[in-house]
Amino acid sequence: MEHDHAGQSALVHFVTEARIRIRGLRKAYGPILANDGVDLEITRGGIHAIVGENGAGKTTLVRAVYGLVEPDAGSIELDGQRVTIASPAQAIQHGIGMVHQRFQLVEPLTALENLTLGDLPHKGVFFDRPAALARARALAAELGTTMEWNRAVANLSVGARQRLEIMRLLYRKADILIFDEPTSVLTPQEADDLFRVLRRLAGQGRTIIFITHKLREVFALAEQVTVMRRGRIITTVPTKGSDPQALASLIVGEQFERPSLRGGTERGAAVIEADRLSVCDDLGALSLREATFSVHAGEIVGVAGIEGSGQRELVEALLGLRHPVGGSIRLHGQPVAGTSVWDRRKRGIAFISEDRDGEGACLPATLAENVFPLERYDPDLARGGRLRTSAIAAFARSVLTRFNVRGAAPNSPARSLSGGNLQRLVLGREIRKTPRLLLAAHPTRGVDVRGIAFIHEQLTQARADGAATLLISEELSELIELSDRLLVIFEGRIVADLPAAQATPDRLGLLMTGAA
Ligand SMILES: Nc1ncnc2c1ncn2[C@@H]1O[C@H](COP(=O)(O)OP(=O)(O)OP(=O)(O)O)[C@@H](O)[C@H]1O
Ligand SMILES: [Mg+2]
Repeated sequence: MEHDHAGQSALVHFVTEARIRIRGLRKAYGPILANDGVDLEITRGGIHAIVGENGAGKTTLVRAVYGLVEPDAGSIELDGQRVTIASPAQAIQHGIGMVHQRFQLVEPLTALENLTLGDLPHKGVFFDRPAALARARALAAELGTTMEWNRAVANLSVGARQRLEIMRLLYRKADILIFDEPTSVLTPQEADDLFRVLRRLAGQGRTIIFITHKLREVFALAEQVTVMRRGRIITTVPTKGSDPQALASLIVGEQFERPSLRGGTERGAAVIEADRLSVCDDLGALSLREATFSVHAGEIVGVAGIEGSGQRELVEALLGLRHPVGGSIRLHGQPVAGTSVWDRRKRGIAFISEDRDGEGACLPATLAENVFPLERYDPDLARGGRLRTSAIAAFARSVLTRFNVRGAAPNSPARSLSGGNLQRLVLGREIRKTPRLLLAAHPTRGVDVRGIAFIHEQLTQARADGAATLLISEELSELIELSDRLLVIFEGRIVADLPAAQATPDRLGLLMTGAA
């Protein structure tokens, strides 16, 4: 009898104990307190969202839990037991897994090989492929999803890669899964699939930590949401009984009102015109087919389409990074065939790359080195082959101030910026002077609520100043709100060109999937 009783109270203790308890966690980077005494409890079996402004310390916190950041002070308890997590390998031993934005998969290997990498089922010295496949299929079934196990990862969609990352963690028995802005790389459809998977995992008793800037995701998914600001936890509230507007106000620390955007301006001359433009992707497959359109001064033209429908190749062809295989492009009425990227940039093209870390910025270089290149012929900054470093630093500082880039100085490496701050840096470099043509791919990706409002204001201000903008985004509401006209692209073809005022998310969704 007595034995039974003790067993029961141990069980009660186990169930009520927080799965994760963080106390007094502190991490400083030089003068910056990324985490300033964080106390947080996360209960077992549910989805817990973490939100907060760019640079608030969200990524630092979860990286500490995953053993990628060594805290200066504080402790972490799992089920009431204090643990030291000095590496991701130790984290996984404790059942903690993290899905990174940059996936950690080996591209030439198959999905199955990636799944089992480092922990191969074997018969004697041989890889036991049937056993591996059986375990892989069981995992996919558990997630309620499918996977092409024999395909090389390089040929999987982004959504499939992310599911594979999740399965890799489950294969290693993780029951705490951390996601840092997982939907920023997904299409809306893929995001819905991910949400289904996450709900299922939480229903099975796993604990999900989910960082996002998209407040509607918080309300669609999480039971609890924690708000961070300047390295501290401001509050944790249940999502029931709150709403996006109230949460936005908690995030910024004051009543948050979205500023109203400037209306459209007079449409000017055509800045860029594409005529039956066809472009191939990296593998030589035709990905943009005979696209004919124009973007005029003083207008924002949005491009709606499922990721991978030719948007990337379109932008690269306009910029000069990719040679079209058919058709023509005119910039200010002149054919651009044979001109370089720099020639086109000099004629007023600005570019916000969808690949912020790889193409938009150079992470090991300093902030100053990241903003300087477009101004390299300015005699105030460089003269007679000599860089005027203090003038360049002052110039960089002015960009940081104007575009509200926080958390680093002109001589800090770009990689020390939080994701959203890096996005502001790139934006600042590109639209500091009003461009004639702005090619903007996902300009608000990874940016906080206030930052999104700021970027929207900047884009509409550029339009008022006469810029022609081609805007690519997966946020249909953003496209509809900002654009004057929308091009809908499906399998590389422009299937609709309509005034934004006539568009609804539902109608766009149908057009984007070829259903209308
Ligand atoms: N490796 C590093 N070196 C120097 N500073 C860093 C480093 N990592 C983070 N920081 C700084 O710590 C602060 C918190 O950064 P963190 O990445 O945790 O923010 P975040 O809340 O994830 O922001 P975002 O929403 O933009 O991703 C920022 O000011 C950032 O500049
Ligand atoms: Mg972050």
